[in-house]
Amino acid sequence: MAEKAVLILGGTSDIARATALAFARRGWTIQLAGRALAELQREADDISTRTGRPVSVHQFDVLSTGSFTAFADALPLPDVVISVVGLLGDQPRAETDLGHAAEIMRSNYEGPALVLAVFAERFRARGHGALVGISSVAGDRGRGSNYVYGSAKAGFTAFLSGLRNRLASSGIHVMTVKPGFVRTRMTEHMKLPPVITASPDEVGERVFAGLDRRKDVIYVRPVWRLVMLIICAIPEAVFKRLKL
Ligand SMILES: NC(=O)c1ccc[n+]([C@@H]2O[C@H](COP(=O)([O-])OP(=O)(O)OC[C@H]3O[C@@H](n4cnc5c(N)ncnc54)[C@H](OP(=O)(O)O)[C@@H]3O)[C@@H](O)[C@H]2O)c1
Repeated sequence: MAEKAVLILGGTSDIARATALAFARRGWTIQLAGRALAELQREADDISTRTGRPVSVHQFDVLSTGSFTAFADALPLPDVVISVVGLLGDQPRAETDLGHAAEIMRSNYEGPALVLAVFAERFRARGHGALVGISSVAGDRGRGSNYVYGSAKAGFTAFLSGLRNRLASSGIHVMTVKPGFVRTRMTEHMKLPPVITASPDEVGERVFAGLDRRKDVIYVRPVWRLVMLIICAIPEAVFKRLKL
């Protein structure tokens, strides 16, 4: 059987690295894409040394939507594409700095959705493939403390849902991942409750297992499904007065 390849967009993140390791340990070939090539190459060398698997690196900026077609053309078409790209940004700044707000929206929604759309069409033409989007529970309900990021993740989650619905009959699988809190560079400045905080390795393993079982939507720690069910059930008249 031919070796399988996974393309990971946002290859410099802790979650991407853990996910790449989860796939490489099971014999997959890895394509890592991101905007910091030197850092990507260091990751690639390390993953390759640990697993003995080939890891290639590719220049990719999620804000350069005009380059997505050429980016896909230049790659051997993988079996799976995972978008890990995301930008938490600075919510207070985004409330008045529209450029920053737009950067957060484009980095978490427009770019990830459009690049997966490019690969979706290629997978459809070939007849197989799977797409994975790392979204967020922040997209399940807008909160005052991070609604610019949250609304972009909500858009991405809805896009993935629609893509999954459209492609279900053509055998192309689409999986949405809602990690909950994860200890990474993005959250290193935050105090996170250990019980609902995952490690990047946990995310990587859950992504691999979820894809293997053709799951549609996964919450990395299942307790988050319940947490978000409760948060979404709070009446708006009460919710708007909470400091969340
Ligand atoms: N950590 C959490 O608690 C948590 C919770 C829920 C969801 N998530 C999601 O998980 C994913 C990974 O996050 P993380 O926690 O591992 O944080 P991270 O290290 O900040 O990862 C973000 C990744 O996105 C990349 N990226 C940002 N803007 C880009 C652009 N314009 N073009 C290409 N790549 C770009 C970054 O690349 P550079 O190295 O070049 O900046 C980095 O690889 C994100 O989608 C995030 O929203 C994280």
